[in-house]
Amino acid sequence: MPAKPQKKVNNMTDLTRDLFLELDRTDVLAPFRDEFHLPDGMIYLDGNSLGVMPKVASARAQDVVAREWGQDLITSWNKNGWFHLAEKIGDKIAGLIGAAPGEVMACDATGINLYKLLFMALDLRPDRKIIVMEGSNFPTDNYMAQGLIQQLDRGHEIYFVEQEAILAAITEEVAVVCLTQVHYKTGHLHDMAAITEKAHQVGALIIWDLCHSAGALPVDLNGCHADFAVGCGYKYLNGGPGAPAFIFVAKCHQGKARQPLTGWWSHAAPFAFEQDYRPADNIWQTLTGTQSILALSVLECGIDITLRADMAKVRDKSKALCDYFIGLTDQHCDGFGFSLASPRDGDGRGSQISLNHPKGFAIMQALIAENVIGDFRAPDIMRFGFTPLYTRYIDIWDAVMCLKNIMEKELWLNPEYDQPTAVT
Ligand SMILES: Cc1ncc(COP(=O)(O)O)c(C=O)c1O
Repeated sequence: MPAKPQKKVNNMTDLTRDLFLELDRTDVLAPFRDEFHLPDGMIYLDGNSLGVMPKVASARAQDVVAREWGQDLITSWNKNGWFHLAEKIGDKIAGLIGAAPGEVMACDATGINLYKLLFMALDLRPDRKIIVMEGSNFPTDNYMAQGLIQQLDRGHEIYFVEQEAILAAITEEVAVVCLTQVHYKTGHLHDMAAITEKAHQVGALIIWDLCHSAGALPVDLNGCHADFAVGCGYKYLNGGPGAPAFIFVAKCHQGKARQPLTGWWSHAAPFAFEQDYRPADNIWQTLTGTQSILALSVLECGIDITLRADMAKVRDKSKALCDYFIGLTDQHCDGFGFSLASPRDGDGRGSQISLNHPKGFAIMQALIAENVIGDFRAPDIMRFGFTPLYTRYIDIWDAVMCLKNIMEKELWLNPEYDQPTAVT
């Protein structure tokens, strides 16, 4: 892709629509947008919840259904590479998160993978009883840990701490530290290298949840010597609703800890059909059973696009989109009761901006009615996610002008926008 100069604007007080159009004209990532299906007229700022469909995904799904399943049937496990698909896609994801081939599998849901890893980490630290987690983390992580220690019933405890207290909470009693790198509500970005180092200094292990990192920013698991990680496929990897998640186990831990869900796919020789369980001693030990080939095939479409992008440029654009969103809301939405829930400093956050507002739910419904799509997280957080591969600079301008109009005209007061929805 030809490198074009990127116009930099530091002055956030003099922003015009023309400037945003110019930024799009000089954006080296702009051509990627054509690879995604974006409905006409929609400004989609929710790729941190569900990524947009790659255009090739529907043809790929059709091919898997009609040819691989319809025609080739069972022979597809060998002929069309189904048996190795989870590993093949895992290897591709490895390229996005600083892992090596053979360290990642694409499989199951994030929560299930986290359960496996927590069990494995505790198995490697049998004399320690403490798990350090962030209380405000996405709840499934905490729920899975709570469920696991209850089932183990061996006296484990979870210390829930928040951001600034994390490093101090990592002491020599701690077995495992389990954190999400980018906070799902605020977008706060943890320092992976520093926290991992602290965990290792005291002999603890670390598990990173990369749900809001993979595909959104450069991640260097092996550069930080991380032990374990999980993440999902449906956000910044654009793998489709309910896409398979992924699981990372550093080479040094493979085959050394027990994985609790001992299904046949994690056996050392699944097609030997032995009576007794013998675990694989490589990344296959993280599998449990047969994966959805349709879902994996569609996930691969999103990953293939992301792999062609320069993650450093993705990160630069992500920070710029977020900075402009903050700059415009400061300038145009001041006095309407919003406060910034995300870090103002781009280095300290992922690829989303969250605003607090006591009427955030209704305001978000009003935005959605205007075809500006973000989401809401109780009690008062409006989230706007930016996926640099398809989000344009002009989308930022248009979204904030739409928000301003909704606030000025009090459109959010429409009682329709106060109706609860199943998914917010
Ligand atoms: C940090 C984090 N972990 C886990 C999940 C969900 O995991 P699962 O794939 O098990 O539904 C999410 C969903 O948004 C998330 O934000």
